[in-house]
Amino acid sequence: MNDQLLENFKTRLTATEASFKVMHRAPSNIALVKYWGKYDPQLPANPSISFTLSRAFTETLVFFEPSMSPKINLKFEGKAKPSFIPKVQSFIDRIKDYCPYLSGYNLEIETSNSFPHSSGIASSASGMAALAMAICSLEANLSGDKVDLKKASFLARLGSGSAARSIEGPLMSWGLHKDILGSSDLFATPFFEAHPIFNAYQDAILLVHKGVKSVSSTVGHNLMNNHPFAEQRFAQANENLARLLRVLRTGDLDDFIEIVELEALSLHAMMFSSTPSYILMQPGTLSIIQRIRTFRKETGIPVCFTLDAGANVHVLYPLENKEIVVDLIDNELSAFCEDGQYLLDECGLGAK
Ligand code: PMV
Repeated sequence: MNDQLLENFKTRLTATEASFKVMHRAPSNIALVKYWGKYDPQLPANPSISFTLSRAFTETLVFFEPSMSPKINLKFEGKAKPSFIPKVQSFIDRIKDYCPYLSGYNLEIETSNSFPHSSGIASSASGMAALAMAICSLEANLSGDKVDLKKASFLARLGSGSAARSIEGPLMSWGLHKDILGSSDLFATPFFEAHPIFNAYQDAILLVHKGVKSVSSTVGHNLMNNHPFAEQRFAQANENLARLLRVLRTGDLDDFIEIVELEALSLHAMMFSSTPSYILMQPGTLSIIQRIRTFRKETGIPVCFTLDAGANVHVLYPLENKEIVVDLIDNELSAFCEDGQYLLDECGLGAK
């Protein structure tokens, strides 16, 4: 099955003598059921589902210039950034069987993020998704066809796993799951059956710790190999996804909250129980979690939290509760954020 799909992503297109310039914007995403653990080549140990965001994005301009000896130049936020080139180069090497035409172009890349540098908001998902979209635009230009969004997700995944889910939105699943028709470990697919309440779902990203994480996601994924709870965790993620799919259809927010918070804490429980063990949460992370739970109990407002692999807290709530939740953030939760900083984001439709 996968062999056939992989063949479909291959092409015989080659570079032409014309140059091509394109700009793409791709958003970040926040997983509701988490991908944690992978095997080669960047395939998920369990399926996941995420909200595609809209205001936290990367914008990337790529100038493809015909060349016999291709090179990569890269500017980040207006300045040359040679330290980013090896990552892009290894991505290009990884996808060469699927994009043979790339061997005929120099790549001049100019990229920037809408969110502050080193804010703890991972830019790999939005960055790799924007670059994959640029490559698929070049391919569409060469073939005369439309941009293949499935291939863009497939390529983005080879750059950074969760980037596969940043191409479309507002909900994207990635990884084979028995209840999702057409689901695959190779690329993400949009989930179109959600209740309308999830179309404009809000995500306030509270920046508890803005620096570089003490343990990278790559190391974290690898620590799931030989993890004593790995099998239980992968089974749990499959079950949580099955439950969440039903909840997404019905719009039952109590169950949504229960599953989403359980997933966030299970992800961090894997870090606590890895060998070596590690903690990415900060005291402020826990204070915010406790306060959100108390506030929900006191007011009945369906606000909940999720976490990615870091200390920042994503506060999720329906659009209709925006005013009261933003008040809570301003008056209480921002005290636990570095420099009081947070970012109000919401679900979006993916790359542009
Ligand atoms: O795509 P990566 O390798 O940065 O891993 C992402 C892992 C989590 O953000 C913790 C979970 C997820 O599904 O996005």
